[in-house]
Amino acid sequence: MRVILLGAPGAGKGTQGALLAKRHDAERIATGELLRDAVRSDSPLGRKAKSYMDAGELVPDDLILEMVREVIAEEARDGFVLDGFPRTVDQADGLRAILNGLGMPLDGVVVLKVDDEVLIKRLSGRRPCPECKAVYNIYFDPPEQAGICDRCGAELQQRSDDDPETVKHRIQVYARQTRPLVEYYQASDTPVVFVDGAQPVDAVQSDIEDQLAGAVRA
Ligand code: AP5
Repeated sequence: MRVILLGAPGAGKGTQGALLAKRHDAERIATGELLRDAVRSDSPLGRKAKSYMDAGELVPDDLILEMVREVIAEEARDGFVLDGFPRTVDQADGLRAILNGLGMPLDGVVVLKVDDEVLIKRLSGRRPCPECKAVYNIYFDPPEQAGICDRCGAELQQRSDDDPETVKHRIQVYARQTRPLVEYYQASDTPVVFVDGAQPVDAVQSDIEDQLAGAVRA
């Protein structure tokens, strides 16, 4: 499987990407997570990226492409699910060049559609585990004990860019800089499928599988 997940902040790219990657034994490459790891480890990339991320802006394309080029070449030979990348036309052009160079065509692009009010509620309720990366939601998928990870017992946190003002700005940035990629891929040979991301997690997952299978057969 070689797919891109497109969708606004909170559309469920991380949730669905993890399930898809597990089921298809593919690598999930999530640029947001790679960047947060870089910030946590205070690496040169992390120091450059932090102010953009805190403001809800996109990190510059050259930094992102440099970061993913190596990851795709080294980790994605058996398939990948791209979560949060590409996010601009320049990144999509860069990805096309990388994949052409590796002889790895894309199977499809999945667009997750969710209304803004739901996105805002999901992100205000999101509580990721900083240790094992499990993701909870106080409204939709709470942990058994409030604030504590069911899997590893660590204290859950809120992402610094999940405050309401930054969330609204991230949604605007998505509309301006990333949504145009839907047309970009519709104008290409890669199948593009649209999935209602507001359904329960399992229903979204099975729609993704069904629609991708249909698009590949068509
Ligand atoms: P990134 O980490 O990619 O954030 P994002 O795109 O804003 O997406 P999110 O992680 O917020 O949401 P998601 O769609 O993954 O939803 P999730 O599954 O977690 O990027 C962060 C920042 O890094 C960017 O702002 C930018 O600065 C930088 N960056 C990253 N990539 C970049 C790039 N390529 N170029 C430039 N800059 C880049 O779900 C959200 C919540 O909803 C969770 O609590 C979950 O449990 C819940 N949920 C999910 N699905 C459902 C459902 N079906 N029903 C009920 N609840 C659900």
